[in-house]
Amino acid sequence: MSVIENSKLAVIGAGSVGASLAYAALIRGSARRVALYDINEAKVDAETLDLAHGTQFTGSSEVEGGSDLAVVEGAHVVVVTAGANQRPGQTRMDLAGTNARILEGLMPQLLERAPDAVYMLVTNPCDVLTVVARRVSGLPAERVFASGTVLDTSRLRTLLARRAGVATSSVHAHIVGEHGDTEFPLWSSATIGSVPLLDWAQGRPVGRDELDRIATEVREAAYKVIAGKGVTNYAIGLSGARIVEAVLRDERAILPVSTVLGDYRDIGDVALSVPSVVGASGAVPIAETPFSVDEDARLHASADAIRGSLAQLGY
Ligand code: 2OP
Repeated sequence: MSVIENSKLAVIGAGSVGASLAYAALIRGSARRVALYDINEAKVDAETLDLAHGTQFTGSSEVEGGSDLAVVEGAHVVVVTAGANQRPGQTRMDLAGTNARILEGLMPQLLERAPDAVYMLVTNPCDVLTVVARRVSGLPAERVFASGTVLDTSRLRTLLARRAGVATSSVHAHIVGEHGDTEFPLWSSATIGSVPLLDWAQGRPVGRDELDRIATEVREAAYKVIAGKGVTNYAIGLSGARIVEAVLRDERAILPVSTVLGDYRDIGDVALSVPSVVGASGAVPIAETPFSVDEDARLHASADAIRGSLAQLGY
């Protein structure tokens, strides 16, 4: 699929996640133009120059950046990565207070510059911040969503593909719920090719214990990477770029992004990831996605975790 004419992506925050997302978007050709904004002028100018110096070799052709929010003007998608990062020993939820206050200040300024854009939150805790962004902006639920468990789903598919000895693209499984400690896999509807995962054998059936270990490995993946290098950046950069192109190309791709769910399974005013159709107008959760009784209970437990954090923030 080709890049839509003049499509513009604005990335807010030129830290390791924002810069990696911009880099991934450039290489993949996710948008025709990529803009980077940060309050730190020296940092954003340097990242922008470094990215621009490679555009002979990338799919996207134009890079701009700076510490003036004017760079956001004309963006079709705005991706927010600004805020404090998780440090070793911290959970994503520990960042809620600091990052909610940053977002409350930022959101109205972004809307002034890009009133018609689709907004994607990558900053953590991204589900909590999606609710904050929605309340502050008043935008329809489909136009404000988080990258959510798209990254965790990629982690899951990579492990399952390796175990089953098939291509990652042939594994159809989703991590849903909070992008965080209460997330879980939808095993009941997962398939490898067209074979239900729970029936997959090929000489070595995938047992329940093994699936539990895989789910734990996915849930703890970010902690492991952060313990070793201080941040996670490449995989979230790629996940974010993939979601951006689904919007800019109006792909209507099914991705587990996080939107405020409302009536969906009676979740209420809380954002969680579930398989959703992602296209030019944003993300719409797929109501027909099957959940087992246990999976439904876990989705509600995830919602309670987000609701608890929002209540502490005064939302
Ligand atoms: C990740 O899962 C920390 O949310 C980030 O890599």
